[in-house]
Amino acid sequence: MPKPRERSEALPRPRIRVGRLREADLDAVLAIERVSFPTAWTRDNFLYELRDNRFARNLALRADGSLAGYACLWALEGELKINNIALRPDLRGSGLGHVLLRACLEVGLAESCGEATLEVRPSNLVARRLYERYGFREIGRRSGYYQDTREDAVLMAARLDRSLWPALPR
Ligand SMILES: CC(C)(COP(=O)(O)OP(=O)(O)OC[C@H]1O[C@@H](n2cnc3c(N)ncnc32)[C@H](O)[C@@H]1OP(=O)(O)O)[C@@H](O)C(=O)NCCC(=O)NCCS
Repeated sequence: MPKPRERSEALPRPRIRVGRLREADLDAVLAIERVSFPTAWTRDNFLYELRDNRFARNLALRADGSLAGYACLWALEGELKINNIALRPDLRGSGLGHVLLRACLEVGLAESCGEATLEVRPSNLVARRLYERYGFREIGRRSGYYQDTREDAVLMAARLDRSLWPALPR
């Protein structure tokens, strides 16, 4: 009988890297986008951020070279705005959200932003908890912002300060 797999023999973890999002990633991005949000961004929405928006900073999280997640940011007048962030569903819940969000906040620090802001659905408890771990707090609501579900948007903001961040999960 084969021996049960011991902890030290566990499958190797994928090699995680965060880099620039590229147009060649867009098929994989759209596949994640469509299963992540009731109203998905279109290819044109992403292309505008990649090609035309000079305030945009777009990140790709890669696991063993394959696209595992992405984030679309603006760095504008000292504020980092997180406009879109998502991970491949099968990779959620194991700490990669921390990795991706930290990479966003590092962009903000590199761009001399003092504050980060974002909007999130009140029902998105996983994302809200993640943001709170990095110092984001609710600063307001936009009534009926999400037309698909008629939810308000919770507006959150955080001071960009590494000392507020939790230790990365192992
Ligand atoms: C939001 C998202 C990027 C988070 O990534 P993730 O891999 O699921 O999260 P992680 O495993 O890194 O966990 C990060 C934190 O999220 C929270 N979290 C994760 N899974 C959770 C769950 N099942 N229940 C409650 N909170 C949870 C926790 O606060 C966790 O940190 P902690 O365990 O140190 O307390 C990911 O879930 C996602 O892509 N969701 C769909 C798209 C989306 O909603 N984007 C945000 C739009 S505003």
